[in-house]
This record gives sequence, structure tokens and C-alpha cells, in this order.
Amino acid sequence: MAAKPKSKMDLIVALAKRRGFVMPTSEIYGGIGSSYDYGPLGIEMKRKLADLWWREMIRKHDNIVGIDSAIIYHPKTWVASGHVDGFTDPLVDCKKCKARFREDELVKRIVKGIKGIDEAPLKNDGQNLDADHASYALIPCPKCGTKGELTAPRSFNLMFKTHIGPVEDSGDAVYLRPETAQGIYVDYPQVQTTSRLKPPFGIAQIGKAFRNEITPGNFIFRTREFEQMEMQYFIKPGSEEEAMEFWKGERLAFWRDVCGIKEENLRLHQHTKDELAHYAADAYDIEYNFPFGWDEFEGIHSRTDYDLQRHAEHSGKRKDLEYFDDQTRERYLPYIVETSAGLNRGMLAILLDAYHEDSVEGNERVVMRLDPKLAPITAGIFPLTKKDGLPELARKLQDDLRLDLDVFYDETGNIGRRYRRQDEAGTPFCITIDHQTLEDQTVTIRDRDTLEQQERPKLDQVAAVLSDKLRG
Ligand code: GAP
Repeated sequence: MAAKPKSKMDLIVALAKRRGFVMPTSEIYGGIGSSYDYGPLGIEMKRKLADLWWREMIRKHDNIVGIDSAIIYHPKTWVASGHVDGFTDPLVDCKKCKARFREDELVKRIVKGIKGIDEAPLKNDGQNLDADHASYALIPCPKCGTKGELTAPRSFNLMFKTHIGPVEDSGDAVYLRPETAQGIYVDYPQVQTTSRLKPPFGIAQIGKAFRNEITPGNFIFRTREFEQMEMQYFIKPGSEEEAMEFWKGERLAFWRDVCGIKEENLRLHQHTKDELAHYAADAYDIEYNFPFGWDEFEGIHSRTDYDLQRHAEHSGKRKDLEYFDDQTRERYLPYIVETSAGLNRGMLAILLDAYHEDSVEGNERVVMRLDPKLAPITAGIFPLTKKDGLPELARKLQDDLRLDLDVFYDETGNIGRRYRRQDEAGTPFCITIDHQTLEDQTVTIRDRDTLEQQERPKLDQVAAVLSDKLRG
């Protein structure tokens, strides 16, 4: 029987592991569901993506500053934000076989008539929801098939709870943050004062967030530990529509023009009333055309003054959270428009978009057409042969470039093989040192996508040529 063709997702997962972009964590122990480590190429790319976002949001705007807040906040933060009561997923158990399912997944599958379902594997203390159990009585358990054994849905909180100090006492309970946004809200009075910002202004941060997801999956799309790149824009009430329009345009342009994702694979989706989160008055998702369907990798949310109102009530520090406009003598709680991107999901979209297969002079190749700004290695440096002084010249070029550019020296295998390895890693340029270099100090620069060999620049011009290409 012919082997089933691999899906694009399978191809990316395999390439990511093979080339050291992303690999399962603690694999010697069998891994732990949906936790991933970023290898030597993956960490370079992830850092470049985070840096591009930082440049785009902070360097580009006078009125946006950055912070890096703690992961563990005062636990009242999460009571005020609504996460302790409302950040939950409803789960259904089978009393017979003890399997556990997410209710929305169960309903979706039943409506679509799909057999088989992912089980929700977690143990957690659930609370009963008010749902009508009778509606589940006739549904067979998707795992063991027994009818009438499914429980009413129960609500499970997605926050990871832990405690501070050596004694496990409920009084010391704290949470790993499920979003970075709240760290910005609770710091906002200090940041606004020290940076002397006037609305509209933004506070941005990049950092880890944790969610005890019931059904993680699709590689790095949904994991329990991930990184967010969030910016909270503090505005005068009444200007939220204008701010939403502005940021929708800016954020879409970032993924398309700066990161190079193809326009046809990007779209905006406005949330329906049912889809809106508890804090949002309006929301758009930036979606990518993933192999499993269109799905969100960044949200743009109009949060009104919901968060600051809640923190004002719970902290008793309303005055600190209000903004006083000394020109108009007005005092108000700013409204917030948030841009909330997933660093890992963004990276997955970029990797999928970059994956191509073609053939060069009759040889099949896999080529990652990553934007040069995001490619882990900017240029490969190859001596044509291992003799005649070519390696020494190539090493000298590597030393001249290495502190400013990501370059990689390779002298093993024939030149075609070396190109193929760099094509898979997404390296946009490969520099070859050959016998002519000995005579006139010139090199060739091969372009990954056009396969053209640039007219021979001099060794001392290579840094400028590569920097120009990165800027272009
Ligand atoms: N502060 C708003 C907020 O957190 P969200 O829509 O829940 O909004 C924003 O999350 C982004 O964070 C998502 O678009 C996604 O890119 C990323 N994200 C959320 N949950 C994730 C998970 N379990 N794994 C990976 N990324 C996730």
C-alpha cells in the first residue's frame, strides 16, 4: 500500500525536530504532553520575532513603553480580573470508564456526527454547572459507548495554582499568570507617572503565560506554557473605535509586511456576541490559514474600563488608577485597547507559511522561505574546498561578521549538500570562498529563493551587502 502523504503539519513537526527548531521536552522520559523546547535554530528565530515585535511596538512609537513584570502577582489580581471565577472550561465525565471530555468539543463532535474524541486527561476539582444533565442521558460515551453515564458538565479553572513558602496552606495560594496583560494594569499608575505619559499611550511586554488547557494540541499552537507579546493602549473613553481601527491595520501589516506571511493566508475575524470574552466590548482575531483550519494567533480587544474598574474596586486605589488631565481638569479611568499576540503561535504560522518543496537542477529540495530578518542563520560561509588556504579565508570572514550577523561556517560535504542544509534551515544567503577569492578577494553570494549568484562583491563589502539585504 502506498504511504499516506504527510500533512503540512506533520512535515513541519518533523523538520522542526530534525533541524533543531522545536522539539518535545524531556524526551528521554517520554516527554510531557504538549510541552516543547526550542533548539538552537528555534531560539534564534523566536528571539528575532520577539525583537521585531519590540521594535514595531516600542521603538516605532514615542508613546509606547515596555515593562517586564513578575509571573506571580498578588492573588487578588486574579479575583479582580475575573479569572478566579470565570476562567473555566466545562468538562463532562463518563461515570463508567472515567474518561473526561471538554463539553464544547463533545457537542461539536455530536453535531458533526464525528466518532472518537480527545479525552481531557487532567484531574482538577470541578464545580457543577447549571447545565441540563438530561440532555446528556441519551448520548453514548465517545470512549466506552455506554449510554446514560455522562455527568452534567462541571467547571474547571484553567489557572495553575501553587503556593508561596514551605507550608502548603490555602492562605498562601497564588497563580501562575494566564496572561501578561494584568501585570500591565496593576503597574500602570507607576509606569504612567515615571514615563510622564498622556493618553493615548501604551505599555507593552513579552513574557510567559500558563494555562492548564484541557485539550492542548496541534504542536505549538495550544500548549500549557507559552509566550505572549501584549500591548495595552490606554485611551480617553470614546476613542476606542478609532484605536481599534488603527491597531487592526498596524498588527495585520506587521505579520504581512514585516514577517512576510502571505496575504492570502491572513484574515481578520470579528467576534460575535457569543464569542466575546467577559471583558471585551468588541474583538477581532488575526487568523492564519493553519492546516487544521483558520484560527487565531493574535487578538485585538476593546476592553473598555472593565479591568481598571475592577482593580479600582478590589484594591481600593481608584484615585491612583484614574488619569487626571490637567489641561481639561477631567479625571477618568482610561479605556483600554489591547493587542495580544502569541509568540509561539505566530512562529508556527511563519514556519508553515515558509515551508516549500521544489527542485533544483532535478534535485528535490525542502526550502524554508523565511524572511531574512527572521531566519536563524543569515548567511552560510563555505570554502569551496578544504585546501589551498580557502578555509582560512572563510574563517577570517566569519570572524569579521560574527558579532553583528548570524553566520555559520560549513566545510563538510559537497557544495550542493551544504546549500540543501541551509535551505532547510531557512538561511537566505550562502557565501562561497573559491580560488578566485585568493586572486581578487571577491566571493559569490547565493540567494536561497532566486538561486542567483550575486556578482562578486569584495570580502570587505560583504557586511554592507548583507546588512542592506536585511534592511530591504
Ligand atoms: N490578554 C488577552 C488574552 O490573553 P487570548 O485570546 O486568551 O487573549 C491571546 O490570548 C493570544 O495568546 C492568542 O491569540 C494566542 O496566540 C496566545 N495563546 C493563548 N492561549 C494559548 C495556548 N494555550 N498556547 C499557545 N498560545 C496561546
